[in-house]
Amino acid sequence: MIFFISLYVRLNSKIGCLQADHFQIYQRQVSMNPQDIYILGIESSCDDTAASVIHNGKVLSNVVANQSIHEAYGGVVPELASRAHQQNIVPVVSQALQQAHITKAQLSAVAFTRGPGLMGSLLVGTSFAKSLSYALNIPLIEVNHMQAHILAHFIEEEGFEKPEFPFLAMTISGGHTQIVRVNNYFDLNVIGETIDDAVGEAYDKSGKNLGLGYPAGPEIDRRAQLGNPKAYKFTKPKVAGLNFSFSGLKTALLYFVQRETKNNPNFVKEHLNDICASLQYTIIGILIDKLKLASQETGIKRIAIGGGVSANSGIRAALMAGEKQFGWKTYVPKFEYTTDNAAMIAIVGYLKYLEQDFTTQEITASARLKI
Ligand code: KG4
Ligand code: ZN
Repeated sequence: MIFFISLYVRLNSKIGCLQADHFQIYQRQVSMNPQDIYILGIESSCDDTAASVIHNGKVLSNVVANQSIHEAYGGVVPELASRAHQQNIVPVVSQALQQAHITKAQLSAVAFTRGPGLMGSLLVGTSFAKSLSYALNIPLIEVNHMQAHILAHFIEEEGFEKPEFPFLAMTISGGHTQIVRVNNYFDLNVIGETIDDAVGEAYDKSGKNLGLGYPAGPEIDRRAQLGNPKAYKFTKPKVAGLNFSFSGLKTALLYFVQRETKNNPNFVKEHLNDICASLQYTIIGILIDKLKLASQETGIKRIAIGGGVSANSGIRAALMAGEKQFGWKTYVPKFEYTTDNAAMIAIVGYLKYLEQDFTTQEITASARLKI
């Protein structure tokens, strides 16, 4: 443990003066042991500090430290997030290695989230990964967080089928809403994305307006299953093509609640399940309409989802219905690989390792990294 801390502190100061020779040296190590590949993945883009070890595509450990500090604020506070990452990263990485029953000397490479995400948070994981790669003299692999959400479908997992290329991937979470055409592991085109809030944000902000805790998605989902989805009608936004918009819906819900509460101060309390069901019905409608359009436009019927909102019962039911109605084949990864996690970073690290796609110590975090 002390080793890691001193690594983090001492090696960060040396990063600036690293040269290309370092890259050459570990290139030699790569070819020495091509059959047994252990990748450490590190994820720190938002409010979860995560580390995972993958052996030849199979997860050996997947540790996530959630930051409950943000609950009191109803959303992630960037400065608090980066401080918590600094506290968490050493124990989380340490635990990931322990649970995988390997030592750091056995690692083949270190993969880390370069972006997109919160700059302060990304910097913690990036600096740590660079230091570790330097100290262990092993390759460093940069990973795009959005690509990782999609490639999480390629983790070796019993009972979970991997999608064939090409497929459509919809990533839905508190930070993202995207539809991506996936032609191959590293050939991905974003064909639609949100122009304002992410879908999870729509859940969380609406939940706040309904007096629910943060994150509100799971609670709205639970209540939605007890309510009438047609009780209230919220208009779907009109956004051209495959892009999304959720900020109008959030405002519509707020005005609706304010209006109804004027007549009946207990309105929300008395009708909470119906409000949640109607809101969820509208959100799922928006997502499915766009998926239908994407499938029609591309002719692709294989649809994979990821991100925290893919835990939603409504989206899961709608995808199952899509299998019957439109001949879709749908893929939902294991729950722990849909929310932010480091196994998805490690699997991309593994796939890039096979291609010997490494980065150098000059790499920096990038808050707005694109796929
Ligand atoms: O992927 P994730 O863990 O973190 C990122 O935002 O990247 O996703 C968290 C989001 C939150 O907005 C949360 O409210 C939402 O996923 N969420 C849900 C459900 N479970 C989590 N939204 C709707 N229904 C759920 N069952
Ligand atoms: Zn994410």
